[in-house]
Amino acid sequence: MIVTGGAGFIGTNFVRHALKNTDYRVVVLDKLTYAGSLLNLKQVENHERYAFEQADIADLDAIEDIYQRYQPDRVVNFAAETHVDRSIDGPEPFVRTNLVGTWVMLEAARRYLRDKNEDEASAFRLLHVSTDEVYGDLDETGLFHETTPYAPSSPYSASKAGADHMVHAYHRTYGLNTIITNCSNNYGPFQFPEKLIPVVILNALEAKDLRIYGDGSNIRDWLYVEDHCSGILKALENGRPGRNYNIGGRNERTNLQIIDRICKLLEKHRPAAENPAMQARGLKQYADLKTFVEDRPGHDLRYAIDADRIREELGWEPKHNFDSGIEHTVKWYLDNLDWCKDIQEEKNYNRERLGTGK
Ligand code: NAD
Ligand code: DAU
Repeated sequence: MIVTGGAGFIGTNFVRHALKNTDYRVVVLDKLTYAGSLLNLKQVENHERYAFEQADIADLDAIEDIYQRYQPDRVVNFAAETHVDRSIDGPEPFVRTNLVGTWVMLEAARRYLRDKNEDEASAFRLLHVSTDEVYGDLDETGLFHETTPYAPSSPYSASKAGADHMVHAYHRTYGLNTIITNCSNNYGPFQFPEKLIPVVILNALEAKDLRIYGDGSNIRDWLYVEDHCSGILKALENGRPGRNYNIGGRNERTNLQIIDRICKLLEKHRPAAENPAMQARGLKQYADLKTFVEDRPGHDLRYAIDADRIREELGWEPKHNFDSGIEHTVKWYLDNLDWCKDIQEEKNYNRERLGTGK
């Protein structure tokens, strides 16, 4: 099995999940951008069924060579530029990796399968990991279904939508056995600290402002990362080629609710009253750090996923509820502050505001 983007947040969780729950040899193919690090793969690097290849999914020659050398019957494409804010500041890498890179993964698969017999070609699966953001946003009611028309808002989601169309085209035109999953917001261990949950945890611990875009009423549908990984594996093994599967846990929360919950959990596990950074700012509680800032341009209002298809067809169920998942996540960051420090140093990142488009 080839796992692109396996050195990123969901990828590294999926690699562990696949090594634990299958017999596949897992080859991580990753460019190691700012979002991907071998620090995320330390716990599996000596596993006998694990291998790593540094490569760019937009490099057709390199990808063809990797297919030839590893002869995969499964490919899971996580590799992407994933941060909406960065796509607002600079869309170019999003077009290159998400659009061109996904095309390369498909084209390399098509060429690779030309030399295979019918049975081998029909056993092959390429699962493309996509997002609910391709559907645009919802107002106060309704859910995203697999039949909801694509209406992406940001350069990120537009590049993911384009990639999904190319995946469908390769299925329909060339009969490539592809599957797409469209998931809602993930949270859990190893998320790069540019995204809402980890950036809030780390800024709170250092008594820095907790930036709330707009009025904080935007809603996301949060899923614990392990549940996303189990859904992907189910779709990979039992999903119907040519199909999309939505994945989500029906855990809608406003951004303000998320930030308040993190503040509460930090008060429980690392009280502000005992935090020298908070004392230095003369602040008593983490909630005092909440700061409303200029909104994200084009900010999607609400996401909410109908995951009935994957539940009914494939028997997938999320195992984690939000209360335990978010507490586990906050504790993971508290227990892994060395990882947080190392990854920010390695990537020269200091949690600055991104995505104003200026
Ligand atoms: P991430 O940003 O944490 O990791 C992305 C990984 O892809 C990194 O390891 C990076 O080095 C690698 N990568 C980037 N460009 C590459 C290239 N050109 N060639 C090879 N590798 C490259 O991302 P994530 O949050 O783990 O998301 C993984 C996938 O899941 C993405 O496709 C994303 O669109 C999708 N997704 C994410 C979420 C979420 O909430 N994070 C939700 C739904 C879907
Ligand atoms: O829905 C799935 C998508 O979820 C994935 O496809 C993306 O790859 C992933 O990054 C995520 O996108 P979001 O834009 O929803 O995630 P982010 O963590 O950037 O922001 C979550 C919400 O919090 C969003 O409404 C913007 C807001 N926000 C974000 C940051 C970083 C803030 O208010 N303050 C912040 O500092």
